[in-house]
Amino acid sequence: MSQRKTYIFGNWKLHKKFNEISLFFKHFNYLIKKDKRINKNPNLIHGFAPSHLGILPAINFAKGKTNILAQDVGCNNIGAFTGQVAFWQLNEFKINYAIVGHSETRKYLGNSDKNVNKTIKVLLNNNIIPVICIGESLKTYKSKQTNAFLAQQIKTIFKDISLDLIQKCIIAYEPLWAIGSGKTPTLDEIQQIAHFIRQSFKSFDDKQSNICENLHILYGGSANVKNASDLMSLNDIDGLLIGGASLDPAAFVSILKQSKAYKNFNGNK
Ligand code: PGA
Repeated sequence: MSQRKTYIFGNWKLHKKFNEISLFFKHFNYLIKKDKRINKNPNLIHGFAPSHLGILPAINFAKGKTNILAQDVGCNNIGAFTGQVAFWQLNEFKINYAIVGHSETRKYLGNSDKNVNKTIKVLLNNNIIPVICIGESLKTYKSKQTNAFLAQQIKTIFKDISLDLIQKCIIAYEPLWAIGSGKTPTLDEIQQIAHFIRQSFKSFDDKQSNICENLHILYGGSANVKNASDLMSLNDIDGLLIGGASLDPAAFVSILKQSKAYKNFNGNK
């Protein structure tokens, strides 16, 4: 039986000014303060990804009560790379997770699957867990090509990465058409696709198929207080990547409380 944890991450995108970050964590830290099921739960991992300039204030105000993630990171080392952020800067501030390949970085910054592949390798070599976004467009979804599309995306993104390393990654299935739209695939579709994603790693090395069972797969795209419980009850879904609903501390905490890891916590032993 697999011992997967639950990961619930907020992606703040280009939101929250300095004083809003301060207010957010005052409220968030207060809400979780007395809740051992959140703050002492080894199976429930949560965090927020502010924009790069929000990372330091967030670390400051979060006071170690949650994880701070990067929304994106480059694959280059030190040098003449104007405008970029590198793994070693995340290391300097003890940032353990970075979102990689979010569809908005693909759309607005020209990110690509090949680049995501390079970035993942750099992060895995430098103790940063990549939260890797994959997902199909509406056109692909409507033409029922989602599985074929994801299979190709997975092949390129994880090229020349061993299953041992892949199991350190977190994969976020985010249908592009569900992001910020208020729409989601049906629960059956999400379960079927997450299962397909998990199984597709078997072809990397069929002798190690047990590793696929340990992979963490999140869902992202219009996850909110109302649908979180249903989404997180799916067998192959191990948490959520949340945009809009992560901006409000009460909504985010309510979502944490809907996770299996929260409900099953037995911390009094
Ligand atoms: P959303 O964003 O929850 O606002 O749809 C999700 C994401 O972009 O990760």
